[in-house]
Amino acid sequence: MAEAPVIDPTARVHPTALLERGVVVGARAAIWDAVHVRHDAVIGADTTIGEKTYIAYEVKIGSFVKINAQVYVCAQVTIEDGVMISAGAIFTNDTFPRALDRALARLETSDVTDETAATHVERGATIGAGAVIGPGVRIGRFAMVGMGSVVTREVPPHALVVGSPARVAGYVCACGPRLVDALAFGAATLATRWSCHRCGRTYAADAGTLRCVADPHEAVRVLDV
Ligand SMILES: CC(C)(COP(=O)(O)OP(=O)(O)OC[C@H]1O[C@@H](n2cnc3c(N)ncnc32)[C@H](O)[C@@H]1OP(=O)(O)O)[C@@H](O)C(=O)NCCC(=O)NCCS
Ligand SMILES: [Zn+2]
Repeated sequence: MAEAPVIDPTARVHPTALLERGVVVGARAAIWDAVHVRHDAVIGADTTIGEKTYIAYEVKIGSFVKINAQVYVCAQVTIEDGVMISAGAIFTNDTFPRALDRALARLETSDVTDETAATHVERGATIGAGAVIGPGVRIGRFAMVGMGSVVTREVPPHALVVGSPARVAGYVCACGPRLVDALAFGAATLATRWSCHRCGRTYAADAGTLRCVADPHEAVRVLDV
């Protein structure tokens, strides 16, 4: 018999949502109308999935994740804690997709194969509305992908990327705002510091990566910076 979904009693699942066998939904999660969660996907605690979103089979979604309406999450995508995915974002996992198999004899499988590319979205990252995430990319922690961007390459931690193809325009705070543009970041010395006007966190450049060096909210945060 098919294994029923395991839904924490504190989670809210709209009656029109379709949860397949083996799905796990964590505490206080919210799954809105007409969401489709394929078999064996995991939705973490305190996570919200907006209406008409599709989550492919065996996808792992962390805690405190916010997914807006009409997002397409394909197989082999992993989404860590605290990630924001805006409306209409699309993930992909096949670089040269075809309807038919290599013999052109039958429909190509929709199962994961050794040609399926895995994508990983690290904690705290944001994907803007309508962005398309190419197959097999890693989006670094607290990165921000601008609306409508086409991401074809790895996105460094805290990087703000925009355009098609998406390029690094600057670096952003864990709480969101832009801290420094890409040119000034490249010119930083060991002593250079940037502070966020919104949350008061302070950052330095450490071997080409933005690193938080002081966090006034360390005692209360639910996500590591
Ligand atoms: C990328 C983003 C964070 C930049 O914000 P910002 O720093 O205030 O940007 P600005 O408006 O100052 O624009 C700076 C430049 O980048 C360009 N730009 C901004 N967003 C862009 C995007 N998504 N794609 C391409 N270029 C973009 C602007 O046109 C401007 O170019 P210019 O200097 O040649 O005129 C923002 O535009 C964005 O896309 N946010 C996500 C919105 C979203 O999806 N929200 C979903 C939940 S409601
Ligand atoms: Zn901040």
